[in-house]
Amino acid sequence: MTQEILDKAGAHFAQIVKEQLERVERLKTGEEWTDYSKLHPIKVGVCWGDGIGPIISQETQRVLEYLLEEEVKSGKIAFKPIEGLTIENRAKVGKAIPDDVLEEIKACHVILKAPTTTPEKGGPWPNIESANVAMRRELDLFANVRPVSIPEEGIDWTFFRENTEGAYMLGSRGIMPTPDLAFDFKVITRPGAERIIRMAFEYAKKKGIDYVTIVTKANVVKTTDGLFLEVAEQVGKDYPGIRWEGWYIDIMTAKLVDPARRTQFRVIALPNLYGDIITDEAAQLQGGVGTAGSANIGKRYAMFEAIHGSAPRMIKEGRGKYADPSSLIRASVMMLEHMGFMEKAKKLQMGLDICTRFEKKLVITGRDNGATGRDFCDYLLETVKNPELEAKWNSFQSK
Ligand code: IPM
Ligand code: MG
Repeated sequence: MTQEILDKAGAHFAQIVKEQLERVERLKTGEEWTDYSKLHPIKVGVCWGDGIGPIISQETQRVLEYLLEEEVKSGKIAFKPIEGLTIENRAKVGKAIPDDVLEEIKACHVILKAPTTTPEKGGPWPNIESANVAMRRELDLFANVRPVSIPEEGIDWTFFRENTEGAYMLGSRGIMPTPDLAFDFKVITRPGAERIIRMAFEYAKKKGIDYVTIVTKANVVKTTDGLFLEVAEQVGKDYPGIRWEGWYIDIMTAKLVDPARRTQFRVIALPNLYGDIITDEAAQLQGGVGTAGSANIGKRYAMFEAIHGSAPRMIKEGRGKYADPSSLIRASVMMLEHMGFMEKAKKLQMGLDICTRFEKKLVITGRDNGATGRDFCDYLLETVKNPELEAKWNSFQSK
């Protein structure tokens, strides 16, 4: 009996090691970055997702269609609604992303993704893998870039969360050799750590920032986090003008709420799970997870998403129209930047700042005592259309 258990566990682990060895080789060969200026059209898939997803994605698309009116007319940009990424469809085929939906996604160049329901053990849905996690893996979206800024407090953080490895990569591949014993697997690879850390350093260099923070728990999780830190040591040597420091995730979490220390952080690179947790904390400081956007960048594809969930309760209680689209719109700003539409991205960001931080003529509360997502987007469009947009934004900035 014991031998059988050992053999089974050994075979499971051997299979994982084999797959990862192959993956490491693939990562080493590298791929070219997509050049959006050469694409015609750039196909933008809009994944509706579940719950409040269809509502906030259609509102966001409306805003984008206004900003990109010329490009849509000239055929430079084509929006493709992708409706099938729902929990019902996923549960039906027992897959994180149904094959036909994945095919639709892969036929696009960039994806704007509304939230999808992530099933959990004991919940109403079969415990399939998260659609986000599967998409990040399938499209090799290795960098989860999450900016958080609170100018009035001097906070300007950009998190580079590794997005395809760590505790996530094999999150659905854990084993229980007996009902009393459970294992999960965490993976860090040298090329996987290198590409995210290098991206963080490159970003710092481009922005003239001379300090990068690498966050791990390498004092305890010695092998995987140890490798992450070792790679940072090597990559850091290529950037002599940039100082870097390793911080442990526990104290880092504490320092993010310490006004005396937190403004020193600017560019932060970290493995997947730590990045997941700490970016929620950071977004909360900015005003809530609904206010943050998230870019999932790979060389070939890129996906932009809200960082909150699908809010099934809002739908159940009939409050869907009061859902806040601003996180998905913030993600759209990043999407516009990524495709090279810098001016339009700036316009949209200024509009968002005015509507959500400065002027706040309408406030979304998620309930009927606040504005609907549609009214908010009308307000945003009106703000963005104003020829005095930049002057207005500047006047708020200097107040
Ligand atoms: C996020 C989310 C996802 C994650 C969930 C929905 C799987 O929390 O994007 O941060 O853990 O990565
Ligand atoms: Mg998260």
